[in-house]
Amino acid sequence: MRIYQEKDYNAMSRRAASVIAAQVVSKPDCVLGLATGSTPVGTYQQLIQWCKQGDLSFAQVHSVNLDEYCGLAPEHDQSYRYFMQTNLFDHVDIKPENTNVPSGLVSDPEEECARYEDVVKGLGYADLQLLGLGRNGHIGFNEPCGEFPLATHLVDLTESTIEANARFFASANDVPKQALTMGVGTIMKARKILIVASGADKADAVWKAFCGPITPEVPASVLQLHPDVTLVGDGSALAKLMEDKA
Ligand code: F6R
Repeated sequence: MRIYQEKDYNAMSRRAASVIAAQVVSKPDCVLGLATGSTPVGTYQQLIQWCKQGDLSFAQVHSVNLDEYCGLAPEHDQSYRYFMQTNLFDHVDIKPENTNVPSGLVSDPEEECARYEDVVKGLGYADLQLLGLGRNGHIGFNEPCGEFPLATHLVDLTESTIEANARFFASANDVPKQALTMGVGTIMKARKILIVASGADKADAVWKAFCGPITPEVPASVLQLHPDVTLVGDGSALAKLMEDKA
C-alpha cells in the first residue's frame, strides 16, 4: 500500500489527480471507476485543467461510477449523474456514451443493479477505482453491516450517511433513503484502488480502515486485502493512521 499524506486539500487533490493521470497516460483506453462526494471535487478540477491544457485526454476512457441515489432523475441537482456531468464529464473530452452511472429512476432497482453489474463486468472491471471514505467507513454506499456485499445492489442508507449527506439537501428528510451501489466484490475486482480522504472527521475512519480488523462493520477495511491500494489524504485525515504507523 502506498500512502501520501499531503499538507492540505489542494495538495491532496493534485496528488490524487496525478495518480489518475498516470493511469490514463499509461493506458489511454482504460476503465476508470469514479466517485462523487466532496472529497474528489478538487481532484476532478485538476484533471479538467490538465485536459484543457492539452496534457491529458479522456477520449478513449470508459468510466463506471460507484453509486446513485434511488428515485432521483439524472437531471436532479443532487443525483450522482448530475454531479459527474457538472464536476467532470461536461468539461473533459470523455465520450458521453462511454460514461456509466447506475440509474436511480427505474421501476425495478434490482434489475438495474444486475444490468449495471453486467456493464462493469463487460468492461472488464475498473483499471483504477477512485473511492472516497464515509465517516462510518463506507465505500460506495456499502454501509456497515454483517457481511461484505458482493455485487451491485440496492441498499438502505444508514442514519449517519443520511445525516452526513443532508448538507446537500434542503433537509435530512429530503435525502433519499435508498441507493444503488457497486458491491464490495465489484470494487475489489478493480486492478488498482485510489482512496482519498480529507479533514479531521475522517481520521477515525481512515485508522479503522487500515489499522483495525477486517470486518464488514468497517466496509473499507476490506481494502487491506487488495494488492494495489494508494491512499491519498491531507494531514488531518491521515493524522491518526500516521501516528499508529510511526
Ligand atoms: C460517493 C460515494 C461515497 C463517498 C463518501 C465520502 O460516490 O460512494 O462513498 O465517497 O460518502 O463522501 P465525501 O467525500 O463527501 O466525504
